[in-house]
Amino acid sequence: MKARVVALVSGRGSNLRALVTAIDSGRCDAEIAAVVTDRADAPALDFARDRGFPTRVVPFAKGDDRVAWSATLANAASEFSPTLIVLAGFMRVLAPTFIEQFTDRIVNVHPALLPSFPGHDGPAQAIRAGVKLSGCTVHLVDTGVDTGAILAQTAVPVLPDDDAESLHARIQLAEHVLLPAVVHAIATGTIVLASPRTSLARIDALAHLTVPGLDERGA
Ligand code: GRF
Repeated sequence: MKARVVALVSGRGSNLRALVTAIDSGRCDAEIAAVVTDRADAPALDFARDRGFPTRVVPFAKGDDRVAWSATLANAASEFSPTLIVLAGFMRVLAPTFIEQFTDRIVNVHPALLPSFPGHDGPAQAIRAGVKLSGCTVHLVDTGVDTGAILAQTAVPVLPDDDAESLHARIQLAEHVLLPAVVHAIATGTIVLASPRTSLARIDALAHLTVPGLDERGA
């Protein structure tokens, strides 16, 4: 069954584009039901509008009540009856009430190999720590910050002359492959999201993933 995806975005939207490209090319058995953002100026929103996806803007202003804002956001998402909510560069912490409303139906892509380097600036944290491998993680969202069950990861090298920006760019190449693959795996039942245990029974099906562009960059 096609996953009905509501994508939550705050920024550039390269992961949203990658997901849409994968859907268009038949690599991801999903449809974008809507794109919801907290930022009216997000380039991801322009892309969504250009593509004709339904959109909603639920801004969060300094001092706003997070629970009330999360409830408005949940209503906006619910309007589109999602089977899956994908945080594709969504930069705000959701209130537990939002998570509970969509238990086991929210996934996030994070630019580090969790549980290392959660929260903001995963690539900068990796550079500061001097690790030689970093990567991306797609995980289930729970009420913690980047603490939900890990669904899949891709490692990329950290090269000697990397800064946070160059490392993040390399990690994003991996994200753009991994996120659509995980959404497809969920849509087709390869990954089953069900509490209390998320079934990773056939996660090895993702092991064949290749990341275009990685070889030329020293991988
Ligand atoms: C990605 O690196 C993702 O891991 C993080 O935010 C970034 C969003 O990038 N959560 P984009 O907006 O998809 O280009």
